[in-house]
Amino acid sequence: MKVVLLGSGNVATHLGVLLKKKGHTLLQLFNPTRKHATALARRLNCPLVTRVSAIDTTGDIYVLAIKDEAIGPLLKQLPFVPRMIVHTSGSVGLEVFGKNFSAFGVLYPLQTFSKLSPETPATIPFCIEANSRKSEQLLTRMARSLSPLVYKMTSEQRKSVHVAAVFANNFSNHMFTLSEKILTGKKLPFELMLPLIEETVERLKHARPARVQTGPARRGDLSILRAHLDWLRGDPELRDLYDRISKSIIAYYRKEK
Ligand SMILES: NC(=O)c1ccc[n+]([C@@H]2O[C@H](COP(=O)([O-])OP(=O)(O)OC[C@H]3O[C@@H](n4cnc5c(N)ncnc54)[C@H](OP(=O)(O)O)[C@@H]3O)[C@@H](O)[C@H]2O)c1
Repeated sequence: MKVVLLGSGNVATHLGVLLKKKGHTLLQLFNPTRKHATALARRLNCPLVTRVSAIDTTGDIYVLAIKDEAIGPLLKQLPFVPRMIVHTSGSVGLEVFGKNFSAFGVLYPLQTFSKLSPETPATIPFCIEANSRKSEQLLTRMARSLSPLVYKMTSEQRKSVHVAAVFANNFSNHMFTLSEKILTGKKLPFELMLPLIEETVERLKHARPARVQTGPARRGDLSILRAHLDWLRGDPELRDLYDRISKSIIAYYRKEK
């Protein structure tokens, strides 16, 4: 397909690389500034434009990988009606397209992307939604060319996926950051935790997370919990977080009984 990619951030970078790898033609890259976009356009070997009026109108699909707040305003500025246009956000609904477009949808890649990491993730599930049967067919074809994992869902379902992803990925990663802080405070390396983290994730391929929960809160070991809270007394924020999450685990399994 002939694709026009809008944006030059984390998602645009990895999606651009993937689109090229899977044989799509990148007609053009659009970005309002040249700051990061020049290097990406060079990498993708496609022309770069920075004015909305210069966007190529002959694309089969326009992929908007720009920050959430900018999607609506940019759509209002487009001086033509694209054959098909999609955004890549987990939280923005279809209503953002308004009434001016005939074929539109969402191509939400459920992965964590950073343009600082050179490798595009090997597996990217795509959550898709489209405004009509015809749009859905085109979008499904595009998504399936990029990944075997394609899920059709409503805007409401996609928002729940986004919230769930914040818990599964963003919060877990923050826990790793705090874990590292504790270790470096005692001159210990974070790599000590890597086998544990790997095993935690590996197990989830075969069992539901609630079934494999371990630790003092799961066991209801109050003396250890008290000792840990005492150890954390010098850092009230961390202590509070430890206490809240432990209470959440205890309450979850109490309800399960
Ligand atoms: N990062 C992830 O892991 C991830 C995963 C799934 C979905 N998403 C979604 O994908 C989209 C892009 O996320 P990202 O992480 O790639 O963001 P990002 O790295 O922050 O990049 C944002 C892009 O938006 C452009 N932009 C900013 N203001 C603009 C405006 N007023 N008009 C047009 N473009 C504007 C930026 O241009 P400049 O270079 O000029 O600043 C930049 O190219 C978002 O909807 C996000 O929710 C992200």
